[in-house]
Amino acid sequence: MGLVLSRKGEVAQVVAGSHESLPAPDISRLRRGRARLAGFSLLHTSFSPGCSQWDRDQLARQRWDLVASLHAAEDGLPGFLHAAHMDPASDAGGGLRLLEPHPPGHPPEDLARLVRSLEEELARGQAGLALAGGEAAILVSVTTGPQAEAQDRLDELAQLAQSAGLAVAGRVVQRRARLDPRTILGAGKLREVLLTALRAGARWLIFDQELLPSQAHRLALSTDADLKFMDRTQLILDIFAQRASTREGKLQVEMAQLRYLGPRLGSRDDALSRLTGGIGGRGPGETKLEMDRRRVRQRLNRLEKELAAVAGQRQRRRERRGKAGLPVLSIVGYTNAGKSTLLNALTGAEVLAENRLFATLDPTTRRLRFPREREVIVTDTVGFIRDLPQDLARAFAATLEELDQADLLLHVADAGSPRVAEQIAAVDNILDQLDLSDAPRLLVLNKKDLAPAERLQALVNRFGGVPVSALQPESLAPLLAVIQRRLFNQGWPGEPAAGSNQPPSLLPGFAPDGNDL
Ligand code: GTP
Repeated sequence: MGLVLSRKGEVAQVVAGSHESLPAPDISRLRRGRARLAGFSLLHTSFSPGCSQWDRDQLARQRWDLVASLHAAEDGLPGFLHAAHMDPASDAGGGLRLLEPHPPGHPPEDLARLVRSLEEELARGQAGLALAGGEAAILVSVTTGPQAEAQDRLDELAQLAQSAGLAVAGRVVQRRARLDPRTILGAGKLREVLLTALRAGARWLIFDQELLPSQAHRLALSTDADLKFMDRTQLILDIFAQRASTREGKLQVEMAQLRYLGPRLGSRDDALSRLTGGIGGRGPGETKLEMDRRRVRQRLNRLEKELAAVAGQRQRRRERRGKAGLPVLSIVGYTNAGKSTLLNALTGAEVLAENRLFATLDPTTRRLRFPREREVIVTDTVGFIRDLPQDLARAFAATLEELDQADLLLHVADAGSPRVAEQIAAVDNILDQLDLSDAPRLLVLNKKDLAPAERLQALVNRFGGVPVSALQPESLAPLLAVIQRRLFNQGWPGEPAAGSNQPPSLLPGFAPDGNDL
């Protein structure tokens, strides 16, 4: 037998099970909206004395004030009561504290006061985060690879979470010998994650690995209803949903969301609604996505038609531009590498440049003037990212279609990032997938102000490329010179051999006599 007791001692629910197991009471309706403890205790009988694994799981999943197990001895008389509660202050005992076993009716402590002080402690722990603004999230990485790699991935996930407006309140890494298609986390690790979330007042679990529909379903069943979760793909989709500003951008994002969530719409249950809600309820979140499969298909068909129409308009614009005969320079690069800042610096355009991942979502096109009345069209593209979600890559293929029109791809990399080599490789990889391996490219090592000189030199030796700082317009001269040479095939005295990315020693337009570009 199990009793759910309110803080006043009233019985709110009764559950009955067999000698082997007790069904978990469902208190989701009773406790809705409580950020800390459930406000209820669970008291149950058991044939074996002590606090069992089931009790520990219950504490972490349902955030019970207290779980107490009353030993039903063989003679039928009650034995000792074994009670446990969360321990916000200590990790010893897996974040749980066991009370001294005691005869029923003689609790070792004032339980009401104990629960009050637990809540106060939790509130203190969460206060800092509340001040930081935004909803708090715990980042989780489940990996078979080395720990350092998981930490690296979590660093990027943290940046993504911040871009989405979440405050990162904790990180948990689980290494498993092999990944299990049913459960993403082992039972013990899940308890740890849930305890971390409770202590931090976090409402979100963000997984670095893609959640399979079956894993998401199980996760929904084994966590309390106040906790929402999403994986990296959904997080990226959510950011895109927040940022898309043009009609085309919005259509692309909605399509990618529907494509990703479509297969996960098998059953309309609690798992689904918790999976689909956008962060803070923004973006095309809950309402649009809570549809059945048939309606998803219809909506996808409609979106595809609308998108085709928009793409047609873009094609016509492109043709007009083609007729104008201007060379096209497309800026590509890893997200946050400084593409928009460079576009702004080069052309004086005002494109949103923010220190967040994916500040730019829609292609922006501007003109750049060179000496002798020469003009170039410069387009900024959406930021690239490692393991770009499949659906998203497809959805944004149209944006990137423009790239095959480019006379020169300006690949901007963040020389200040410790992961610059990996990011350059990720971008090259995506360009290869887009069949652009042969397109003329020029690597720009941006943020040179953030890289020590010897590191910058090592990057130049390894990758070639022109170091610049988009924030320092005077540093752009060598880049402009190389662009000019590559696009107009025009040389001047003192420049290195054709085809080289090395800046020439003498720069027209930036000569000391003050001539302007
Ligand atoms: P997405 O749109 O997310 O793909 O980003 P992006 O590549 O367009 O980057 P963005 O231009 O938004 O720049 C990202 C951040 O880097 C901003 O905070 C910029 O101010 C900063 N940044 C850009 N160039 C430089 C630079 O040369 N030096 C330094 N220190 N910061 C830079």
